[in-house]
Order: sequence, then C-alpha cells, then structure tokens
Amino acid sequence: MVVPGQQNTEEKVFYPPEDLRVDAHVPDLNSYRALYKKSIEEPEEFWRDVAQEFYWKEPPSGRMLQYNFDVTKDKVQIKFMEGAKTNMCYNVLDRNVLDRNLGTKVAFHWEGNSPDHHLTITYSQLLKQVCRCANALKQMGVQKGDRVAIYLPMIPELVYSMLACARIGAVHSIVFAGFSSESLAERIMDAQCTVLVTADGVYRGEKLIKLKQISDEALDHCREKGSLTVQKCLVVKHHAFRIHGNDTCNKLQTRWNAECDVWWDEAVDSESDECDPEWMDAEDPLFILYTSGSTGKPKGVLHTIAGYLLYTSLTFKYVFDHHHDDIYWCTADIGWITGHSYITYGPLANGATSVLFEGIPIHPHVGRFWEIIEKYSVSKFYTAPTAIRLLMKYGREPLNKYDLSSLRVLGTVGEPINPEAWLWYHDAVGQGRCPVVDTFWQTETGGHVLTPLPGATPLKPGSATLPFFGVLPTILNEHGEELEGEAEGYLVFQRPWPGIMRGVYGNQERFENTYFRKFPGFYVTGDGCRRDKDGYYWITGRIDDMLNVSGHLLSTAEVEAALSEHSAVAEAAVVSRPHSVKGECLYCFVTLKDCREFNHTLMDELKRKVREKIGPIATPDFIQNAPGLPKTRSGKIMRRVLRQIARNEKDLGDLSTLADPNIVEVLLSQRCEAAA
Ligand code: WTA
Repeated sequence: MVVPGQQNTEEKVFYPPEDLRVDAHVPDLNSYRALYKKSIEEPEEFWRDVAQEFYWKEPPSGRMLQYNFDVTKDKVQIKFMEGAKTNMCYNVLDRNVLDRNLGTKVAFHWEGNSPDHHLTITYSQLLKQVCRCANALKQMGVQKGDRVAIYLPMIPELVYSMLACARIGAVHSIVFAGFSSESLAERIMDAQCTVLVTADGVYRGEKLIKLKQISDEALDHCREKGSLTVQKCLVVKHHAFRIHGNDTCNKLQTRWNAECDVWWDEAVDSESDECDPEWMDAEDPLFILYTSGSTGKPKGVLHTIAGYLLYTSLTFKYVFDHHHDDIYWCTADIGWITGHSYITYGPLANGATSVLFEGIPIHPHVGRFWEIIEKYSVSKFYTAPTAIRLLMKYGREPLNKYDLSSLRVLGTVGEPINPEAWLWYHDAVGQGRCPVVDTFWQTETGGHVLTPLPGATPLKPGSATLPFFGVLPTILNEHGEELEGEAEGYLVFQRPWPGIMRGVYGNQERFENTYFRKFPGFYVTGDGCRRDKDGYYWITGRIDDMLNVSGHLLSTAEVEAALSEHSAVAEAAVVSRPHSVKGECLYCFVTLKDCREFNHTLMDELKRKVREKIGPIATPDFIQNAPGLPKTRSGKIMRRVLRQIARNEKDLGDLSTLADPNIVEVLLSQRCEAAA
C-alpha cells in the first residue's frame, strides 16, 4: 500500500500484503520485534532452539557463542557451538532424504545458457552425485582439511563438487569463472589448493569461455612462481557433451596433461554413490571465498561449519518466507557469496526447490528472466540492482509476454538500490503484489544482516530496513562515538552472529587490521549508513577504497596495480563514477612515463591489462591521461578530488593541502565525457 500524496521516497511506505501474512513465518512487526528481542537478550537460548532442527553427531554442550571483538584486549576470535560434531553435507542432503522424506523432491531445476538445455535434480539424485564426487576426490588424495579450488560455471557439477568437499571435510575455494588466469592462480596459491575442478568450456550468452585453457594458464603461473600445489585437475566435459553431445573438446584446443588432468565422467561416474560423511567440529573450516582487499591482494574470507549452516538456513527461511511448495530462484553466480549462501547452503538446508541458471538475463532475448519465471512458476525471486536496471531499459513490453502471477516475494542484493529501480521492480515485475526485500550483507557476514521480512516489515524503497535476528548494528562517528537515533556514519556491528567470518585465511593480522582495528570492540563493515527516525537503516555505499561495479566489489588498489604494470604507465589512480546500469564504474587517471604517447592503442592495451590481471568485470570505462595527480605535500593522492573530477562536480572544496593546485584545472579541462 502506498501512502498517498507523499513524493519523498523515504516517506513512501509499502505494507506487507495480507495474503502473504496469512501463513508467513513472521506475520507482523510485533512478532519480528519479539523474536529480535529474544535473539539479542537470550542469544544462547535463541540459537539452541534453532540448532534443534539440525543433525548433530555430538550435540552442543558448552556455550553456544564465545568471542572477543576488542583487538586491544586479546586476539579477535569467534566460536559458535565449538565441540559439537556435525557434517554440513549430511544436514543439507541426507537429513532431507532420510529424516524429512524429501528424496523425490526437486532440489534444482537446472536451466542452461540455451533454453534447450535443462535438467531436473531431486534430493536423492543430488545426494548420489555428491557421494560419487566425494569418493573421486578421495581417490585423488583429498583429505580432511585440504583445500580444493573450484573454477566452474553455473552447472550442476559446481554444486556437486562443493558439497562433496563439505562431505569429506575438505575446504572449498570457489573462484568465479569470470576471473582471469592470474586471479585464479593467485587464489590457488594463497590457499595452497591440491585439486582444481574446472570444465572444458562454457557459453555465457554468445561468448565461449575456455575454462580449461584458462586453468592451464593459471597452473603455469603457479609453476612459474615455484608454488604449484595442485596435483590433480578434474575437468567436466560440459562444452563437449552437454552442449554439443559429442567429444568436440579438441575444437577448444585444450592441452591435456595425463599426469594431472582427469575427465569428470571417467573419474566420478564409476564411483560408488555412497560415501560416509566425515564428522567435523562445528568450528572446522567449510570454505574460503576471496573478496577484494584495499591493499590490492584479495582476502580469503573463511567460514566455518555450524554457525554458517544455522545462519544461512534461518535467514533463507525468514527473509524469503520459505514454504515447501515454493519455487525459488536466485540469479547470482555461486562464485560469489550470494550463490554460496542462497543457492546452495541456505535453500538446501530448508529442503527448497531452486532454479539454477547458467545464462545471462538478455540471452537469447531480453525476456529470458521472465520466461524462466513463467516456465518454473517461480514464487520467490532474488536478483541484483544492476540486473534490474539493465532490464528496466527494455521497458515493460518483454514482461507483458509472460505470466508472472506465481511471484510472491522479490529480493535484491549487492549494492544500494536506487528508489527508481526499486519501484520498477515492485510495480512492473511484482505487479504491485510482492514485497521487495532489500538485503544488505557481505561475503564476510555470511548471510543477510540488515533486511526486511516480507510478511512483517513495512518497506521504504532504498532502505535495507532493520537488523536480522542476532545482529546488533551501531552507527559510529569518525571518533568512534556511538550515535543514537537519527544519524549517519560508519556501519559497525557490536557482536557476532553465527554466520560471521572467522578469519582471513592464513592471516590473523590482516583480519584484525581490516575489520577490528579502526574501532576496537566493533566489526567494521566499510559501508556508510544512515538511520532514520523510524530506526530504518539506509546504506550509503562504501567509505573505504572499494568500489562496487555491478554488485562486484573491487579495490581501487588492485586496478591501479594492474594499470601500473604496463610499461608506459608511471602512476595510476582509480576512482568510481556513477553508472546507470552498473551502479558504479571505473574512472582511471594514468600518468605516463616521459616520451610515451597517450592514444587509442594504449587505452586498449591498458584495458586488456586489467582484464588479464583481474577479469572482464574490472574493465575500465574511462581512462584519462593525467600529466600529474593531485597530491598532498606528503605525497598522498587526494582521491576525493579525483572522484569529483570524474563526476564533473564543479565545487571542489578545500584544495589548500594540495602540493600543486594547478593540476586540478588541467585535469578538469581534459576530463573524459564519454566512455573509452
Ligand atoms: C554492498 C554481497 C546496499 C555493500 C552479498 C557491501 C549493499 C558489499 C547491499 C558486499 C544492499 C551488498 N544495499 N549495499 N542491499 N548488499 N551491498 O562481499 O557495499 O560481494 O559491503 O557481498 O556490497 O559485497 P559482497
């Protein structure tokens, strides 16, 4: 319901629809507040109740949660249900098949890049495939605690292999299949992975991506660095068999190293479909997932088993108000945290039926999302603001061709959603019937931390609304003072919830410095935030050196490092600039070495350099020749000024601390109007 006559979007409130509230898990705001209060005041009891639903080989005995957030007092650490024994894979598969009788229920409707390719996988089929893969990994020598790198597109084998790792106690490190060979190599080396799982190739839209070739190049990089830990490379014949129905892999010109490379169908399909789960401690590692870091080197965010299981399961149930007859679709890639938490673990822990989509929103036509929603009668749909903005450009016509009446709840994640996109999502896609849950969270938080509950929370477009159970948000000013009531500042959290990260892989110091040093006693998100008079939270965006391109976090430092590798570049500085579809895009200032000429060839080379080092997601939109950069007398680049130049803001504020204020005029007069 829209409160009439109010133009200011902040004042526009949308109340939960009655028909959704009837059987909602949390049917009104008072119920939310009561549960929230319990989660904060009696956390031990709250989480002990949640834990009851899961299988424990050895039940939790001691305290549920132990932690230290104050870096000045002791080592920062978080422990949840330490000492309890369980297995993640058992909880998300065997428990559903054996205890809940869901063996014949569909776990995934896999929909390929081409609409002609699709598969249906039930819970018992999934369990068997996972066991086969787990046995094959064991055959390859993978043991409890070993790290396995997974570089796969959105195909069933991605789910099989991650759950196979979980089953045998190996730690998966999934690398998004859009990353370059150098990024893949860096991640493999950091975690010292012993096995790499990949595929021959995949089509993303019209584009063929030769994953095996990229993997080979990555292993070459590791070898060159003297740090080749990978002993086996397990290769899915996806392109050859699933797409072409025959062995066309030679067409992809894949290199084959018989000592290392193993075809999936040869190694996995003949294995037994039974495999005993490895009983793990609640605090044993489950996976590492790399996220951008401000120094340029990605951080291996580490999550452990029990807390992550409980938290992804509970958030999935409440935030999407999951019911057994739902068909749920999250369009994210499993290579990002959203896919880990809300395609694999959260939905499977709830016995949900999901769509697993390999393709992109506009292939083979711009109505592909809507076609899939109609095809599977999707009831809960979760996507990113950048996808919404992209599809908005095509208007409502593509939507009108499909029956979207099955939709009940819509979700977004990844970046702040502008009210215009929110309203289009709500009105055009949700036909005004479906609440939009704007879920704020991070790779580090494991699951949603600020989010509406669709049956309970009145919505304001652009606000991630209120904290989830167990989460205590605080807003601090620059001096670390807590701000009450209406306020704007740094978003931090006062205490852990079960799904929060446990560390940066192999680097406790970096973990503490990145998240706990600035304001001792708090986990610092790196995001700015405003709290309004109703206590609603509004994320204002990153306040560190990160930028968010199409929902993907990048650090300015990593792009600068890539540009600086080009022999013509003396120095580079990268800032963000608003973009109508991507949210933010990269605007790069490069200072060339003497005698080097700035021209189109150089620009293309610079872009290629970034794609090679990081991946296509980091391709710069703007590259400006900068004879100099605005620096303070101590030599620090004033990024604020560069951001303002990139955005064509005329009032540049105080420039008195600049060593050479004249450079600003020069940069302003030469700024790029159009994308490179
Ligand atoms: C941003 C993605 C506003 C934020 C799950 C955060 C958001 C970063 C939202 C984490 C949202 C994510 N509203 N901003 N609903 N969701 N962000 O680690 O800046 O890829 O810190 O995790 O995305 O990105 P990450």
